[in-house]
Amino acid sequence: MDFLELMQKRRSVRSFKEKEIPQELLDKILEAVRIAPSAGNIQSYKIKIIKDREVKEHLVKASFGQKFIAQAPIVIAFLAHPEEAKKHYGDRGEQLYSIQDATIALYTAHLATEELGLGSCWIGAFDNEYVLSAINADKKKYICVGFLPIGYPDDKARAKKRKELKELILE
Ligand SMILES: Cc1cc2nc3c(=O)[nH]c(=O)nc-3n(C[C@H](O)[C@H](O)[C@H](O)COP(=O)(O)O)c2cc1C
Repeated sequence: MDFLELMQKRRSVRSFKEKEIPQELLDKILEAVRIAPSAGNIQSYKIKIIKDREVKEHLVKASFGQKFIAQAPIVIAFLAHPEEAKKHYGDRGEQLYSIQDATIALYTAHLATEELGLGSCWIGAFDNEYVLSAINADKKKYICVGFLPIGYPDDKARAKKRKELKELILE
């Protein structure tokens, strides 16, 4: 699949089959994340792979009842590590780069799922503290920028309308 085709095919998937993800596909997603770009190549983020049913149920609650999250065989959470970026880039690293690094990692994984015949949905609406405690991550150290429930799609959502290019270009 070429890049534009991948972007055209990509959708947010919110319904998953009851089918496990083979380890080799998970490894490919993680490798795509690992080699993604980051500010100064510092990679100031962590990822948490969640398979445990109970933890997934907590993520549903943390994200205000988005039930489909628990349907996915795997959820990956993406955590910015501001302290690490601050050591290299001061306030800009702490407040911006660490968030961007983790977000790039998330979106890389999201695109990788599509390429591999899987599906995922970017989850951004949640209570950060609840998520961090559910996944046992240090609340003083990390900010969760989002998480991705990943699985085999159970339906194919239709393409959503986007703004016209002219609305996006600032003259
Ligand atoms: C920052 C961000 C936060 C999002 N949070 C959620 C969310 O909490 N729940 C959800 O179902 N979708 C969420 N989405 C997915 C968007 O709703 C989706 O990308 C958008 O409607 C376009 O649809 P498409 O991805 O199928 O093209 C989020 C997407 C982004 C980029």
